[in-house]
Order: sequence, then structure tokens, then C-alpha cells
Amino acid sequence: MTELIKIGKSDVVASKLGLGTNKVGGHNLFDGLKDEDGYAVIKTALDKKISLLDTAYMYGLGRSEEIIGDVLHNYDRSQVVIATKAAQDKHNDLKINNTPAFLKKAVDEALERLKTDYIDIFYIHFPDEKTPKDEAVGALADLKREGKIRAIGVSNFSLEQIKEANKNGEVDIVEDNFSLVHRKAEKDLFPYLKENHIDFVPYFPLAAGLLTGKYSLNDQKKFKNFSEAQYKKIIDNLEKVRTIAAKYNATVAQIILAWYIAAPSIGIVIPGARKKEQVLSNIKAADISLKQEDFVEIDQMFLGF
Ligand SMILES: NC(=O)c1ccc[n+]([C@@H]2O[C@H](COP(=O)([O-])OP(=O)(O)OC[C@H]3O[C@@H](n4cnc5c(N)ncnc54)[C@H](OP(=O)(O)O)[C@@H]3O)[C@@H](O)[C@H]2O)c1
Repeated sequence: MTELIKIGKSDVVASKLGLGTNKVGGHNLFDGLKDEDGYAVIKTALDKKISLLDTAYMYGLGRSEEIIGDVLHNYDRSQVVIATKAAQDKHNDLKINNTPAFLKKAVDEALERLKTDYIDIFYIHFPDEKTPKDEAVGALADLKREGKIRAIGVSNFSLEQIKEANKNGEVDIVEDNFSLVHRKAEKDLFPYLKENHIDFVPYFPLAAGLLTGKYSLNDQKKFKNFSEAQYKKIIDNLEKVRTIAAKYNATVAQIILAWYIAAPSIGIVIPGARKKEQVLSNIKAADISLKQEDFVEIDQMFLGF
């Protein structure tokens, strides 16, 4: 199992490999999902002692949280770290809302769906345009004092918004888009986060499946964010990762996940899974200790993304 991380200034502790759950109940975001697969994904993760589950109201408009709550009932709550998020206001066409009143209600509603009396990490999912960010975080600090949440997070915030949110030093964790093929946060956010003892959780760590190595040059239409040249470079690089993976008797996805686990600036890695088999495979990354030379080789081949 991977090392344990203490989140920001909170007393929440989790192992470095968690689980992303936007394909658990996220029927509004993805086609063809089955609730039964979602239940199996969560159950498998908890059976395998994955501690952190990353969910959000937006994943199925509460359905992901409900499924987690149903499964959680049969496990030791104290061994599970629930991270959830809110910002989309269901009473106002899902417009982004960061007002203290909205956030406090959102936490109460998430607690009901999760069928628990505390949330380990609560993130403001997206910044709104109007609410001063320190006021929004101040509302979460109240909830922390009341024991309803244990750690405060923000997601999809720019550096300036994070600084405003953290005016009183209350932000514990930041979640943003980051992967070996999307490294912007490294320059933009990492120095400030490190200086202020804020942990970082990358979302899309597998670049929505691309970094598992299961796609070929013919699949570029699925990944329109990359130019033809970039996409070719990624596919070429993944062949090199496959060679490294063979030395560890591992898959490409396992080696990519092991890279994040070894990366000092990454807090928790939350690969998503559609099926329990993916959880069972990805969890093996936690047992891989990448040699420094392999860590550096992978780091170097993806510089520039
Ligand atoms: N804060 C935010 O705004 C935000 C935004 C996005 C995501 N998130 C969170 O971050 C988590 C991770 O992001 P993500 O799930 O979107 O993307 P990801 O982790 O980059 O990719 C996960 C997807 O890759 C495929 N996959 C996973 N393991 C695999 C394996 N071993 N073999 C083959 N395919 C595999 C699965 O999709 P297929 O089977 O469909 O290929 C899976 O759903 C989410 O679940 C969510 O909790 C947060």
C-alpha cells in the first residue's frame, strides 16, 4: 500500500491512491453507465482498502453520493475518506453558486445522500463570479468547526482565486486538471501550494483513459484537445512506457499511476473507473515502487505538455 498523506492542515489521513467516481452514477455526464457497475466499483475499492472516494453532487445530480452512501453502510466509516464537491445550484439551472447560504445547504444535502454525519473533504467545485472567495471558505470553516466537514478544498480555481480563498490560511486541498499530458498546474499552482501546505489532487490523471495505453493513432478523434503532432507524440511515448512497464510486469496504466504516487507534489491520485476490473487493475499501482531512473525518464518524455 502507498504511503499515507495528511491533508493540508486538517487531521484527515488518506493513502495516495484513491478512486474517482464520476462514472459511478454519473448518468448526466456519461452514456451507458449501469448503477450495478457503480455499486461494484465502490464495493471493490473499499474491499481493497482504497481509502479516499472522490465524488460530487454533479456526478448524477446526487446519484454518485447516494450509491456511495448505500455501500458505506456496510463498512467501517472511520476507515473511509469521503471527498465531495458542490457549486451547481439545482434551484437555479445548475448555475455556479459559492454563497455561504448555498454551501451550507449543499453540505447538509450531501450528508443526507451519503447517509453519514460528516464529510472528510468538502470542495467548492467551481468558482462563481461574485462571492468573495474568503467568504465562501469562511462558511466552510464554520462547518469545519461544527464537525460537519473535516477539511476544506477548492477545485477549478485560478491561482489568484486560491490566494483569495486562502486569505486566512484555511484551504487544505486543491483539485485541478493535471496529468502527464496536461502539466499547466505544475508551473501555475504548485509553488504556491507547497509554500502554503496545501495538498494537490490531479483530476483526469489517466487523461480520460488515454494514458492507459488502450488507444492507438486511429483514435485521435476521441481526444480533440491534442493536435495531430501532440497526439502522435503521446502514443509514441506510451510505447516507451510500455517497455518500462514490462520490467515491472505491469500495465501502462499501473506505471503511469505509480509515477503520480512517486511524484512529491501530488497528494492523492484518483483514477476513475467504469468497472470493478479497472479498480482491481489500478490498485496494483500502489505496490509498484518506480526506480528513480524510470521516474525521470517518464517525466522527461512528457515535458512540454
Ligand atoms: N474537480 C473536477 O472538476 C473534476 C473534473 C473531472 C473529474 N474529476 C474527478 O477526477 C476523477 C478522475 O478523472 P476521470 O475519471 O474523469 O478520468 P481519468 O481518471 O483520467 O480516467 C478514468 C477513465 O479511464 C478508463 N480507465 C480507468 N482505468 C482503466 C484501466 N485500468 N484500463 C482501461 N481503462 C481504464 C475508464 O473509462 P472507460 O472505461 O470509459 O474508458 C475510466 O473512467 C473523476 O472520477 C472525478 O472523481 C473532478
